[in-house]
Amino acid sequence: MIVLGLKCHSHDTGAAIVSDEGGTLSVHAISEARLNRRKHSFAYPLMSIAYCLDALGLKSLDQVDLVCIDKHMERWPDANSQHGLANALRRYQPRYDDNHRWNYLAEQSMDFSQTAVQWVNHVDAHAASAYYASPFDDAAVLIAEGGTGIYQGAGNDLAVIDRIGYLGHTFRDCERLDTRRDHFVNSSFLYDRVSELLGYDIFGAGQTMALAGYAHLFEKRDLFEVAEDRFDDFIINHDHTVHAMRDMEAYRGADADIVAEPWCNLARQAQETLEEDVLYLAWRARKKTRAKNLCLAGGAALNCIINRKIMESGLFRDLFIQPAASDEGIPLGAALHGYYGSGGEVRWHMEHAYLGSDPGAPDLDDLVGTWKLASAPAGPEDVAKLLASGAIIGRMDGGSEYGPRALGNRSILADPRAPDMKTRINGTIKHREGFRPFAPSCLADAPPEFFDTPSNSPFMIVAGHVAPSHRDKVPAVTHADGSCRVQTVDAAINPDYHALIKAFGAETGIPLLLNTSFNDQGEPIVESWADAVGCFLRTGLNALWLDGTLVTKTDATPKADGAAMLAATEKRVASEYTDLIERFCTMETYVALGNQLAEQENAGQP
Ligand SMILES: [Fe+2]
Repeated sequence: MIVLGLKCHSHDTGAAIVSDEGGTLSVHAISEARLNRRKHSFAYPLMSIAYCLDALGLKSLDQVDLVCIDKHMERWPDANSQHGLANALRRYQPRYDDNHRWNYLAEQSMDFSQTAVQWVNHVDAHAASAYYASPFDDAAVLIAEGGTGIYQGAGNDLAVIDRIGYLGHTFRDCERLDTRRDHFVNSSFLYDRVSELLGYDIFGAGQTMALAGYAHLFEKRDLFEVAEDRFDDFIINHDHTVHAMRDMEAYRGADADIVAEPWCNLARQAQETLEEDVLYLAWRARKKTRAKNLCLAGGAALNCIINRKIMESGLFRDLFIQPAASDEGIPLGAALHGYYGSGGEVRWHMEHAYLGSDPGAPDLDDLVGTWKLASAPAGPEDVAKLLASGAIIGRMDGGSEYGPRALGNRSILADPRAPDMKTRINGTIKHREGFRPFAPSCLADAPPEFFDTPSNSPFMIVAGHVAPSHRDKVPAVTHADGSCRVQTVDAAINPDYHALIKAFGAETGIPLLLNTSFNDQGEPIVESWADAVGCFLRTGLNALWLDGTLVTKTDATPKADGAAMLAATEKRVASEYTDLIERFCTMETYVALGNQLAEQENAGQP
């Protein structure tokens, strides 16, 4: 059986495909943003669908047995459309890359006719992404974000115990049963709101969490009121929250250093509220399921401090956290939900997150000829020496990571011992605020004794601590509060990256590398050679390590023209989408509907 999982609407669209042909479960997954280069892309995921089909060598959608599409709000599909005719006709500039008309036309003309389509509840998809990727045969499953859910997994079955939909509504069979007009946010929403007030957007939760790590520098002060009776259904009283947030507006737009009061207290309070609520939900999941294992997903499961607290709570014996815990993981969850829901029996354990495309060996002729770069073979020892001397190196090798964390295959690597490294990378490469912390990768079989991280932490998703006596030895990967977010690298899973960390340990005595995602501010993590070279030319990266080849700049290397690169990327993406519309859509429908929309729009003009 071959099942395609899709997220076609709102942010972080993408696709995943699972196939049990051959007796084991083959799994491939990617987010549209990685391919169309628009962060948190809202575009209909044609490129991701093409990637998934190509990964299995499929020529057409007819070869897929089942297509499972996420329905983000429980009322959908309304008239079989998530995007909606009204949106398609609306003429405002979307905030993100959300081209309503194009999405609507693609959605309505997709050639799924020979393929069964199922809609999957969004929270259910998150739950499937966690449980069916875990090593457990029985587990509680907790989803924590704008919607929440508690599930019980047993064998290949996943049963809903509690599910609260988005905006606090409960639904059955797409009918809204309950409207909680006065109580329609939870602490995950509150966290996002605080992130916005801190000057970020709805995707700024990571920054808020990082900022909360500085709160100990200031006197503790609560800045907004949080209802204490929120625990029954994880819902915060709307009146309290809105009132509090209205007061917070005064902070927005200030230029002051963000590592200051009240910013840090604002972040701390959001963090503490979310911690309290998610821990309560974990307790409730344990109480209702009596399960000894917990699977975790949903946006709040990217909060590594909370994950650590669940781990230390003693509520569960073991924990599996889906690395693509936020909506990037929805396509995988939808595919797994459809596969097991349709009688699929082959189990799978997500031992690594390298589910994306593998670019193979670089085109050295292009790198040298077009970009006037120098290339030379380089082994782990050579690269380790360079890193130890202060070089900042981009590594691209093997399948790309699914989810928001780079785990070695699309990573920027550096020496964790260098006191100025955090400033250098934030300032010259990532072009972002100096307070943002970096995380380390270490050897799973020989983690440094000065971390208290679990020995198996492959997804960089649980916080640990650096022993106080060692914090000055690895300042670049130790956060202000002494925490760190360690990734353990297994030699059997990623031998080349493991060998590099080991070589760095032999060179320096510290078997540890600073590992941050390979991208510049505002762009998704690099996916292709072109993306990697573009980022290399635009930033202060010293070298690239690509599939055993070290690439460096020369005097003849052209100065990066960011605007021209962006224009070339947009041209390529537009051309690819045109081809993919022809590949996957019924063109008669696409063209006729496009004409119909134009007529309706013209008729509406004065
Ligand atoms: Fe979600």
